[in-house]
Amino acid sequence: MPGMCVIGLQWGDEAKGKLVDLLTERHDFVVRYQGGANAGHTVVAGGEKYKLSLIPSGIFNPRVQCVIAGGVVINPPSLIQEIDSLVGRGIKIDANLAISDRAHVIFPWHFIEDRAMNEGTADGESIGTTQRGIGPCYRDKVGRSYAIRLGDLYRDSIGQRVERIVATKRQMLAGLADVAELDAGKILAEYRGFAERLRPHVMDTTTVLLDALEAGRRVLFEGAQGALLDVDHGTFPFVTSSNSSGVGVCAGAGVPPRYVNRALGVVKAYCTRVGGGPFPTEQENDTGQHIRERGNEFGTVTKRPRRCGWFDAVAARYTARLSGVDTLAVMLLDVLSELDEIQVCTAYEIDGQRTANFPSHVDDLRRVKPVYETLAGWREEITDVKRIEDLPANARAYLERLSQLVGRPVEVVSVGPDRMQTMFSAQSALLVK
Ligand code: GDP
Ligand code: IMO
Ligand code: MG
Repeated sequence: MPGMCVIGLQWGDEAKGKLVDLLTERHDFVVRYQGGANAGHTVVAGGEKYKLSLIPSGIFNPRVQCVIAGGVVINPPSLIQEIDSLVGRGIKIDANLAISDRAHVIFPWHFIEDRAMNEGTADGESIGTTQRGIGPCYRDKVGRSYAIRLGDLYRDSIGQRVERIVATKRQMLAGLADVAELDAGKILAEYRGFAERLRPHVMDTTTVLLDALEAGRRVLFEGAQGALLDVDHGTFPFVTSSNSSGVGVCAGAGVPPRYVNRALGVVKAYCTRVGGGPFPTEQENDTGQHIRERGNEFGTVTKRPRRCGWFDAVAARYTARLSGVDTLAVMLLDVLSELDEIQVCTAYEIDGQRTANFPSHVDDLRRVKPVYETLAGWREEITDVKRIEDLPANARAYLERLSQLVGRPVEVVSVGPDRMQTMFSAQSALLVK
């Protein structure tokens, strides 16, 4: 059973970082394989809180090899800052971090593009990106002509390339932004410096991972964002620019599907979304506000208030199937304590027809009316509960119903940000020994 992935099944921030940190114990490698510093993964360890953007959440276990694979887009100064800040807090980062030479590099022009265009849709509506240059960098990767990979920074041709790209970008962006800051010589000097700093970590991680998997080493693939933000299968165009559902693991990491043997789907006990796009179960009312405050639902990366709403089982069932999820981890259950009643969306109604299928077109998703089932809440605080069977009966009934609706057993339940506030089902094979 060498490969396992942890995938967010909603719109991101499902507490993937906390789970990956916990599961690291039973793995030899932890791999980030898509996205970039648009991700913000929180790990609370030994009373300390860490926010990771590009570094895999396995980094707190010095025995484990962390890998940033080729499908990730990297802004070198922010990666270096992240490394320095962790090292400054006593975390070991040396040969235990490998970075793919195939990963694409985010340059200042990508930030300008992300800001200037505000990455609106064709209809002019804002996607509300994290403004980290993610979309423009992936666009250049797919377009090829203006792309630079990390490995390119060590080649003699890099000077000419940067000059050519800067000249073109200055023309392309002239009407959109002040392009004066795009100075090829300055950018080149800076990025050569970043490349030297990162050199000890940069390698062909595809070969590293293939060697590891073929030798039966245990590899944990850490998804970023959530499956509903998947560029192909999410709520397009209100998505990120990579395959953030389970289908993205192989392409991003460079490993064949046969090695991804197990998928853990991560959900919050409710739903949140940052940025634009439809959100059928959104609660723009006191309930939404209550969840936001109790769950401290403000973006890890951009600090934006997250939009909050009820659990959407139609969406979660779709993304659990899409991602090949075996079992579920239900996170932030404690946030729902103190509610008299909890609603769960069990189906959608569209044009008077009921459906359990998630629409493929965003316009249809906008038109759906969620069909809710009301469950009784619980008043007890549950943050100190240690076993799933010791949760209040209504909390257990809630978990049971989510499991039925999504069609997957609940294997993990989280009732607080700390490692200790995590419970595994009696049948779980994930118990950390
Ligand atoms: P990620 O992007 O999926 O790793 O999630 P984030 O780190 O962006 O957001 C999850 C937030 O919830 C973080 O602030 C965590 O510390 C916090 N958290 C994780 N699990 C729990 C939980 O069970 N209960 C509560 N109240 N907070 C949690
Ligand atoms: P983690 O890994 C939540 C959202 C942005 C925006 C859309 C596109 O912490 O779960 P982008 O900058 O990627 O072009 O923005 O995607 N988004 C996230 N939302 N969690 C994330 O990551 C996200 N990464 C991107 O808010 O709506
Ligand atoms: Mg996050």
